[in-house]
Amino acid sequence: MTTPTKPITVPEFRAARGVQKLAVVTAYDFTSAVIADAAGVDGILVGDSLGMVVQGQATSLPVSMSEMLYHLRCVVRGTKRALVVADLPFMSYQVSPRQAVKNAGRLLKAGAHAVKLEGGVRMADAVAACVRADIPVMGHIGLTPQSVHRMGGFKVQRDADELLADARAVEQAGAFSLVVEGVPTDIGTKVTAAVTIPTVGIGAGPHCDGQVLVWHDLLGLYDGLRPKFVKRYAELGQLAKGAVAEYCEEVRAGTFPAAEHGFK
Ligand code: KIV
Repeated sequence: MTTPTKPITVPEFRAARGVQKLAVVTAYDFTSAVIADAAGVDGILVGDSLGMVVQGQATSLPVSMSEMLYHLRCVVRGTKRALVVADLPFMSYQVSPRQAVKNAGRLLKAGAHAVKLEGGVRMADAVAACVRADIPVMGHIGLTPQSVHRMGGFKVQRDADELLADARAVEQAGAFSLVVEGVPTDIGTKVTAAVTIPTVGIGAGPHCDGQVLVWHDLLGLYDGLRPKFVKRYAELGQLAKGAVAEYCEEVRAGTFPAAEHGFK
């Protein structure tokens, strides 16, 4: 899409559809952002999934704007090339389009290139209001984790007509891309065909224009929930546990620190 060091812009991200699949990962801190960026991801999402994988909460609902801003600033400092998208957390945009613009603006001032908000037809006004204010928006439809109580759990969404209407509404409202989460593969494929903006799938099958995975899932750092769509590319949790156990043994045995770790 671009040379590896040139920052990816919102128009370039959008134009990647049909040219190159987009690889997006979440990150919540400086070091992870440096690693993801250097590995060549197209987008880093500062997701409100941090409520679960960083804070240990059961859902993303408790995450606040100030927590999002804190994690966003850490990620921005570690990112040179990837497009940085920040989630609007629960109750930071649902009240009114005006509230959405105000809080989305705070995320852009903190360094995000774009914001993401959940919802289709029902949130189209909020998307349009942000876009009118020059705030690029990534939509998010399907299994929207902030709707966990309405859905009765983190459940695969199967109403094709509703999902197609949601996707079209978000595109019409001016979003530059669309996360499609937790839908059967055939619906993920239909949604992708129904819009002209890139779809970024997570549990939506292989025919989306890109994919997003949660950092801790991709690296095998989180065991709380293991959805079927997650592929663990490493088992860093096990590696880390082994390393810390070895450290404990060496401290107790008196073999760490050794002579070379001391100052002269
Ligand atoms: O919060 C998040 O990490 C997300 C992704 C799972 C798409 O919304």
